[in-house]
Amino acid sequence: MTAHKPKSSIEVVAHLRNASLVTPSAAIVLGSGVNVLENLDEQKSYSFEEVFGISPSVAGHSGSITIGKLDGKVVAVMRGRFHLYEGHDWETVTLPTRAMIEWGVPTLILTNAAGGINTEFRVGDLMHITAYRDHLNPKLAETGLMPAVSQPAQECKSAIASKLQQVGDELASQNGKFRPMRQGTYAGLLGPTYETIAEIKMLRKLNSDAVGMSTVPELQTVKGTKTEAAAVSVITNVWTDDVVLEGHEEVLRAAKEASERLDLLLRTAIAS
Ligand code: HPA
Repeated sequence: MTAHKPKSSIEVVAHLRNASLVTPSAAIVLGSGVNVLENLDEQKSYSFEEVFGISPSVAGHSGSITIGKLDGKVVAVMRGRFHLYEGHDWETVTLPTRAMIEWGVPTLILTNAAGGINTEFRVGDLMHITAYRDHLNPKLAETGLMPAVSQPAQECKSAIASKLQQVGDELASQNGKFRPMRQGTYAGLLGPTYETIAEIKMLRKLNSDAVGMSTVPELQTVKGTKTEAAAVSVITNVWTDDVVLEGHEEVLRAAKEASERLDLLLRTAIAS
């Protein structure tokens, strides 16, 4: 029978401990279309359905966890995530992150596909998220929290975030093909539609550099816990004043090149 109810984090952790005797030294969340960290050593994969009790409904997400070794270190790679716009509540959206925290995973690396608001960005850039804006307002009804526009961006600082930036800088200085990594503020909106031009103008005024529909719940959940997080956006489109959609071929090529750089960045950061 197909299960459609999310498990509790206790049940999820029990399942994962059964799957791997060793707690991973890092967990990595891969956003839509972000296909990296393939072929880990001794890898075993589990569907989200069997681990979390439910599966994501978004195209481009397979919804699986692979546990394997990278340079001798055990890592857990989650392909896909749950979003508020799918109709999931905050508990469900944060279930994978809570499970990683409770399992004792010390490092969580989050990735996503995002739109560039900073007009200096180019399709295929990687942006290290140094701060985020929460425009999801998930608990507005209960808490009456002030609208997100009046809230300052929250900084994302951690040892792993510094390491990721350092590794990105080193790779760019050693390898002419590795575009220097951007840094900036990520605004998390509810979606699922892309933004209106008015919203893009607002986000630009609020000093956001990229926009997407995920990652903020995960970053909020790790705050104050023993799990440290770092996050990277793959810029898949750029919101210029006269939005020009790139040809499909160009976008695919940019996405492929960005994936290759992200793969190298993650492998080097995890191994070092
Ligand atoms: N907006 C929101 N989410 C996105 C975008 C965007 O422009 N590009 C990729 N994910």
